Amino acid sequence: MEASWLETRWARPLYLAFVFCLALGLLQTIKLYLRRQRLLRDLRPFPAPPTHWFYGHQKFLQEDKMEKLEETVEKYPCAFPCWVGPFQAFFFIYDPDYAKTFLSRTDPKSQYPYRFMTPCLGKGLLNLDGPKWFQHRRLLTPGFHCDILKTYVDMMAHSVNTMLDKWEKICSTQDTAMEVFEHINLMALDIIMKCAFSRETNCQINSSLDPYVKATVELRKIIFYRMYNFWHHHDIIFKFSPNGHLFQELSKVLHQHTEKVIQDRKKPLKAGMKQDNTQKKKYQDFLDIILSAQAENEDSFSNADLRSEVNTFMLAGHDTSAVSLSWLLYCLALNPEHQERCREEIRSILGDGSSITWDQLGEMSYTTMCIKETFRLIPPVTSISRELSKPLTFSDGRSLPAGITVVLSIWGLHHNPAVWKSPKIFDPLRFTKENSDQRHPYAFLPFSTGPRNCIGEQFAMLELKVAIALILLHFKVTPDLTRPPVFSNHIILKPKHGIHLHLKKFPKC
Ligand code: HEM
Repeated sequence: MEASWLETRWARPLYLAFVFCLALGLLQTIKLYLRRQRLLRDLRPFPAPPTHWFYGHQKFLQEDKMEKLEETVEKYPCAFPCWVGPFQAFFFIYDPDYAKTFLSRTDPKSQYPYRFMTPCLGKGLLNLDGPKWFQHRRLLTPGFHCDILKTYVDMMAHSVNTMLDKWEKICSTQDTAMEVFEHINLMALDIIMKCAFSRETNCQINSSLDPYVKATVELRKIIFYRMYNFWHHHDIIFKFSPNGHLFQELSKVLHQHTEKVIQDRKKPLKAGMKQDNTQKKKYQDFLDIILSAQAENEDSFSNADLRSEVNTFMLAGHDTSAVSLSWLLYCLALNPEHQERCREEIRSILGDGSSITWDQLGEMSYTTMCIKETFRLIPPVTSISRELSKPLTFSDGRSLPAGITVVLSIWGLHHNPAVWKSPKIFDPLRFTKENSDQRHPYAFLPFSTGPRNCIGEQFAMLELKVAIALILLHFKVTPDLTRPPVFSNHIILKPKHGIHLHLKKFPKC
């Protein structure tokens, strides 16, 4: 008997697959449409800058548009919804009361940018959540105790002096123009490798870590690009794109470096040399702490956990400090009167700087105010984000439902004219005790606050004080006005083409 029309058609697998895909596509379109409608409805109470129906505010979010954000902060008080493509919106906030409500909760880290970081960093303290984050945080916090930080002062000074020796060779007592960010980045890497990993790399002299440094710079760029280009949010599309391919190559460089650091420490431990090693050091470094945690309980601290934490601390521990010191030098170059006041203070406390103590650094009050004002004017971490696990109601009664990604714009908060008078002016006196006491406690958040604040805050402040003190004792800095820095917001705020300054060495007394 001849097959019916229906039977012939339905029997064809290709036809079946086609119908299946069509139905799936239709379902997906309906889902996306409903998602857009829901977002539009949820965000209606908050006005937003004009948006393109397809690209949203993508152009606005491009890496160097910090001034655009300032205009928006002025026009749209407290917050605004920011569309990334037609189906995804982030909710930007920059008001201290909003920041307080937001940071008083324990919402998990948002998928952006952490989901895009995980393939290269793994899951470390920065992007873990829940009980595992708590366990790691409790374990690693003692590594930043002030008794341990005190022992770092000499190591930090040694790394800064290595950089200054290089600068002295480049500059005579003549005024010399040079790019400083690259030098500072290597110095900060040298410091974290010595302090956290007890590893002498000599990377400032022999370029041994150049591939690692290059890989981290490029990886940041790719992660930022992916975050704000919604068609690359999908893992498969990204994986097969040129950027996805490069991402995998660069991640390998990162992992090889981390693996070497871990294996080099594990080898002598395995060979029973534990005692000799730890006896030599006065303190347990970061790597000692996580290796002993793993030795005690391998189930709760796996090899993958170990790699992720090493990756995280190596990266977070050097590039934020490097950009901070570079912006600080730039601000002091632009403001010679503040530079001179810092130098006078440092000379009166440290003399020629041949020895520096923890207590002396605590006395550098004017220099500390300049550091804080730089953090306000140019916050190295421009924003942090969370995904709301339950509805959130702000102090003015407006609400957001669960599921929304909220971005606290630290840049917006620090440039909010409702909080800071003349926010574009560099004025360290904003941070006198009297002025600080009068301000909203959530107006200044370079290291965030609450349970997920920066674990490395004291380490970073120590490094900045040691470095700026030694630099200002040896050099006078002025800006190279022909090459002003350009912002490059790749998760942290970097100078796109470096920081070009004129350096003049003080003659030795
Ligand atoms: C000037 C330098 C630094 C700045 C401005 C800075 C800023 C921040 C900010 C804003 C956060 C919160 C991120 C979020 O909530 O998503 C953070 C977290 C973190 N920072 Fe820093 N940081 C600096 C230096 C350091 C250093 C030197 C280290 C390590 C030695 C470090 C390690 C971390 C880690 C591990 C976290 C995650 C903490 C957690 O979630 O428990 N940071 N940092």
